[in-house]
Amino acid sequence: MWFLYFLALDLIPMGNTLIIKNDIGRLPALGWNSWNAYHCQITEKQFITAAEKFVELGLKDVGYEYVNIDDCWQVKDRRDSVTHRLIPDPTRFPDGIKGTADKIHKLDLKIGIYSSAGTLTCAGYQASLGYESIDAATWAEWGIDYLKYDNCNVPRNWADECRGCLPDPMKEVIGKNGTCNTDLCPAGYDYSKSNTAKRFRIMRDALLAQDRPILYSLCEWGTAGVQQWGNSTGSSWRMSDDINPTWSRIVNILNQNSFYLNNVDFWGHSDADMLEVGNGLTVQQSRSHFALWAAMKSPLLIGTDLSKITTDQLEILKNKYLLAFNQDNVYGKPAMPYKWGTNPDWTFNASFPAEFWAGESTAGTLVLMFNPFERSDNKTAVWGEVPGLKEGGKYHVTDVWTGKDLGCLEKELELKIEGHDTAALLITGECGSNHATARKAVKGMRFFGDW
Ligand SMILES: *[C@@H]1O[C@H](CO)[C@@H](O)[C@H](O)[C@H]1NC(C)=O
Ligand SMILES: *[C@@H]1O[C@H](CO)[C@@H](O)[C@H](O)[C@H]1NC(C)=O
Ligand SMILES: *[C@@H]1O[C@H](CO)[C@@H](O)[C@H](O)[C@H]1NC(C)=O
Ligand SMILES: *[C@@H]1O[C@H](CO)[C@@H](O)[C@H](O)[C@H]1NC(C)=O
Repeated sequence: MWFLYFLALDLIPMGNTLIIKNDIGRLPALGWNSWNAYHCQITEKQFITAAEKFVELGLKDVGYEYVNIDDCWQVKDRRDSVTHRLIPDPTRFPDGIKGTADKIHKLDLKIGIYSSAGTLTCAGYQASLGYESIDAATWAEWGIDYLKYDNCNVPRNWADECRGCLPDPMKEVIGKNGTCNTDLCPAGYDYSKSNTAKRFRIMRDALLAQDRPILYSLCEWGTAGVQQWGNSTGSSWRMSDDINPTWSRIVNILNQNSFYLNNVDFWGHSDADMLEVGNGLTVQQSRSHFALWAAMKSPLLIGTDLSKITTDQLEILKNKYLLAFNQDNVYGKPAMPYKWGTNPDWTFNASFPAEFWAGESTAGTLVLMFNPFERSDNKTAVWGEVPGLKEGGKYHVTDVWTGKDLGCLEKELELKIEGHDTAALLITGECGSNHATARKAVKGMRFFGDW
């Protein structure tokens, strides 16, 4: 099928999904973004520092590759009057974005850029609605590898006729207590026909027309039923409003995303927003945030100043078991809740999300037990409750945080879990079975080896 092979070398939408050459976007993106650390206060130096730190701290070796510029990189109030191109801020980026891109590429890393599907970005800079082809071509020429496309300053003629969450069995509770609960569209509404979907598709097609593969990250804040059209439009789509470095916000997003995970597989990832590890969370909270984001197969974009990161935080971001789960080449589905815990199963509760999670991977079954309380709590992973494991079975268990082999455990494992912390276990195989046939152990972290 040589002709299919040739087609697959280009950036083309295939069936339900956006397929980009070189497997770009097949797995969740790993990288760094400037917003959570610096907001609008950016200069080229921060991006070069982030890239150098990727190399120095071993983050590159475990798969982090994108260094992404967020809002405020361009001249604020005008485009080039002749070419209508966006103009990089000459003070912040003295060598232009192309100059920064060249430096990042020299370190064998990739660079991302930012714009909005509106007239201005969220911080009021020039944005791309109506200029999609010009901007996509400009970015391709500069050597851009990733676009985060935001949703601010949408003109009235582009407003949606109605807004809302995906109509599904959870709609009632999400409609009452979730974020996108205003002006719900009538049951059966096809959100792929919404103006929001159209605005994001125009940029997809502009990127597809370039002779450079560019990962397309939708930042439509979980609105306009993106679960219906995200997979065919971008490599990832945001499922909520912005994150911030407070525990309540992180838990709130976790709760929402736990209802959207059926839509996640290879090539399409529900983006729970960028990481806040390093921005004031406790070690326990950082562990829970990272473990659950990795398990949900969210893109993992670090959002802190890497020159100030502590050893504890770095170890969390480099956890090889969680990264291997997030980047698994064979299993595309995320971990899912198998039991809520404090609340009855399927309860939508912004402060007390599902606590018991499991997912399949090449290395084995990942089991997470999350403690939403401030006090420590004992929790038990009962093998018979975990999808794929047998009641009363005996399993080899590894502690994902310490790498310690916990041995061969029958029926269950009870652990004391500190407040806001998450126990993470990897069940690598049944005891007594031939070790050679047990699942492949986690190997070195070369995720992108096949091309
Ligand atoms: C997205 O598209 C890919 C490729 O067609 C498919 O493997 C995946 O299951 C799709 N995801 C959903 C949620 O439909
Ligand atoms: C969320 O769950 C907690 C724990 O069960 C409960 O105390 C609280 O009332 C719930 N909140 C809402 C809004 O239902
Ligand atoms: C939704 O919120 C209301 C009021 O805050 C609360 O009474 C109700 O229990 C919540 N419902 C769910 C399913 O969490
Ligand atoms: C909690 O679990 C620990 C094992 O991690 C165990 O030693 C302890 O007895 C348990 N506490 C209670 C109250 O069951």
